[in-house]
Amino acid sequence: MEATVSLPDSASSDSASSELRDERPGAAAPRHPIRRALEAGEYDDELFDELYSGRIRDASACFWTPVAVACRAATLLARLGASRVLDVGSGPGKFCIAGAAVRPKLTFTGIEQRADLVAAARTTSRRLGLDNASFELGEVTCMDWDAFDGFYFFNPFGENLHSPDEDHFDDAVELSGGRYLREIAWVEHRLATLVPGSIVATYHGFGGRVPASYDLVAEEPCGTNRLRIWVKSGAWRAGWWRELYGGGVQRGRFFDCPPGGR
Ligand SMILES: C[S@@+](CC[C@H](N)C(=O)[O-])C[C@H]1O[C@@H](n2cnc3c(N)ncnc32)[C@H](O)[C@@H]1O
Repeated sequence: MEATVSLPDSASSDSASSELRDERPGAAAPRHPIRRALEAGEYDDELFDELYSGRIRDASACFWTPVAVACRAATLLARLGASRVLDVGSGPGKFCIAGAAVRPKLTFTGIEQRADLVAAARTTSRRLGLDNASFELGEVTCMDWDAFDGFYFFNPFGENLHSPDEDHFDDAVELSGGRYLREIAWVEHRLATLVPGSIVATYHGFGGRVPASYDLVAEEPCGTNRLRIWVKSGAWRAGWWRELYGGGVQRGRFFDCPPGGR
């Protein structure tokens, strides 16, 4: 594996504190307490999840990014120069909303296939008074990925491999092994065709392989897995990176990628 760059933790080292001073018009309005907590670096999932109701809240620990992971990923994406971030399969918006609160200079867009989750994301973002997070209803394959320079994945397609009665949010969308294979193949191809300099964050991977034209520039334990940051280089390289279930990563020329076999 190539050496990864160690990125410092301290907020002051990358002008995060100046980013947190919101000088935009309207910034004088009182902040929602959960937004204030995020800005103060208090990453409390139980508190954040109070923004959601019913099954969306109940599903949080399993399906939505923990706040600390979202804020760390947003910080690393910002530090490496991303400005327009796409959350690929955004659920009720937890990554985008937490990221938007702590990185007000970045814009976050979520694309999500379930209408009720998009509605929850929009409502929650509005409640927190965020103007740098937005949400689209649709398929990840229908977005214009060229409009973004940063991408976030929290295992968006894994639900397709669920066993009966578990590991899936609901039956409102098609879930199948065939769909899983089609979508990870599409993403692998799309990653390979993004412009050099594109930055990708993975948490629990995305199920597929990252093209070897990406450098793995940061990697750290985060939440229940590892957070990895990849930057597309200008060089074409044969092969792939493969993120392993056990948390490791391998680089090779000929990995195949059977369902569940990351
Ligand atoms: C594991 S959740 C992650 C949600 C969010 N990114 C987060 O980190 O909190 C994956 C989400 O991706 C959505 N998703 C899966 N496949 C999709 C597709 N092809 N198009 C749009 N959304 C998709 C699911 O509906 C689900 O809400």
